[in-house]
Amino acid sequence: MSIDPHKENLKVGVIGAGAMGRGIAQVSVTGGMQALIFDTADGAAQKACDFIGGMIDRSVEKGRLSETDGSNAKNNLIAAEKLEDLSDCDLVVEAIVENLDVKQKVFQQIESVVRKETIIASNTSSIRIASIASACTHKDRIAGLHFFNPVPLMKLVEVINATETSAETIEALNVIGKRMGRVPVVVKDAPGFLVNLGGRAYTTEAMRLAAEGVAQPHEIDAIMRDACGFRMGPFELADLTGIDVNFPVSQIIYSGYFYDKRLATSPIHESMMEAGRLGRKTKAGFYDYDDNGQIIYPDLDPKIKDNPAARAYVPEDIEGLEPIARDIGLSILKEDDGISPILVAPVGEDCTSVVHRLGLDVKRTVAVDMLSGIYQHTTVMAAPGADDAVVRSIMAAFRKVSNRVTRIKDSPGFVAQRLQAMIANLGSEMAQIGIASPEDIDKGMKLGLNYPHGSVELAEHLGVKNTLKILENLQQITGEERYRPSLWLRRRALLNLPIHTPN
Ligand code: NAI
Repeated sequence: MSIDPHKENLKVGVIGAGAMGRGIAQVSVTGGMQALIFDTADGAAQKACDFIGGMIDRSVEKGRLSETDGSNAKNNLIAAEKLEDLSDCDLVVEAIVENLDVKQKVFQQIESVVRKETIIASNTSSIRIASIASACTHKDRIAGLHFFNPVPLMKLVEVINATETSAETIEALNVIGKRMGRVPVVVKDAPGFLVNLGGRAYTTEAMRLAAEGVAQPHEIDAIMRDACGFRMGPFELADLTGIDVNFPVSQIIYSGYFYDKRLATSPIHESMMEAGRLGRKTKAGFYDYDDNGQIIYPDLDPKIKDNPAARAYVPEDIEGLEPIARDIGLSILKEDDGISPILVAPVGEDCTSVVHRLGLDVKRTVAVDMLSGIYQHTTVMAAPGADDAVVRSIMAAFRKVSNRVTRIKDSPGFVAQRLQAMIANLGSEMAQIGIASPEDIDKGMKLGLNYPHGSVELAEHLGVKNTLKILENLQQITGEERYRPSLWLRRRALLNLPIHTPN
């Protein structure tokens, strides 16, 4: 027997009146349901109701909610004095401290007061639902309902399907999630669930690039914003979330997946935490901040005074180069004249490997990332031993059509190819191990983290074959397990199939 999630006056109990509990109660009542808030701290539930009432009033003032809906929502908000007041709730959502022992005890208490069919869900972001459910009697009605902060603004909700959760429970939470005005995605009960796991690649590979000295954090951020359309660079995001949050989350997920190297972060991440540079909240992180808490960005666009290169030897065909060469007045030579710059556009290789593979003159060889937003932000790199003046002449040439040109240190996959391939590889692996459907993985990453493309569809955007090539080159050049391509990606690349093709 299970609850009817469509029932008109459905009752949602919310335990914990903190930031998350308030948001969950708010979307419950604005979704036309009743919300009963319970908190052990004296007066906390009433304070939460007053706070939510204020938020609803503001929505009415701004015209987002009609006056009738606003007053109905407020009437549906109840501060519960004791846990027993939640006895006839259809759903109870727990949003208290992130501690397994405490959550297990509270779940037992909830089970002792509610009906047998009442769904009990946790908003935990890092504890396995199965661990909480292990203390319960009726495990089939226990699930996760993972919201994002701030709840009223973040549309996504992860419905966490634990081993013992029944299909009816998941279906009911899907319906209730939609009634709350959210977009539910059904996710496996695994470390980091969907969004926190999927977000690891952007953070940890960026740390890795900085640790290798490939580029400075502000340069990596600018490349990802300009050339790849991310709203925030990985270091801006890490500073905003707080290093004290994202470093432990990285560690939990890394150990939760039994030290899969693809999920490892870098020692610089921990160094920031140890140094107390926690990001925006401490006004110091990967960035320095002014007194108003705004990032102080180092100068990004050093003036290139050199003359632009007029000709370049192009030893391997570069797709898309011709129109750009025309625009920047660069003649393409098919034979090496022994003096002109040599232009290459590797996919997943570093410049050193291309020079070595083709037997080129290292002094004159410059690599350009032609896969990512060249007009918005061009990335160039050269091998050790390159002539700086030659590199600058190529930078000056591309500057004619590009808003920004950044020179990075030699790196397999530059910055953008490498970061995007790692995100797409993790998205593919999540599809392979069934964290969620490929479509829901994409939905989750776009709604939960504002990514311009979902992690799975990003492979399609880069080219499925290109994505595999970047990873294979990275793996071969570095010799590292970290860059091992997901079988999901590999199979679709080899068979020339769209990345969303089901198993
Ligand atoms: P919070 O610290 O703002 O609020 C927790 C509330 O729970 C407090 O009001 C406290 O008095 C109350 N509480 C503690 N023990 C209780 C008990 N035994 N019975 C009833 N009330 C109790 O915490 P926040 O940020 O709202 O987080 C709550 C949960 O949501 C945690 O599990 C957290 O991991 C999860 N979460 C938090 C997110 C965030 O960005 N803050 C995002 C997604 C999930």
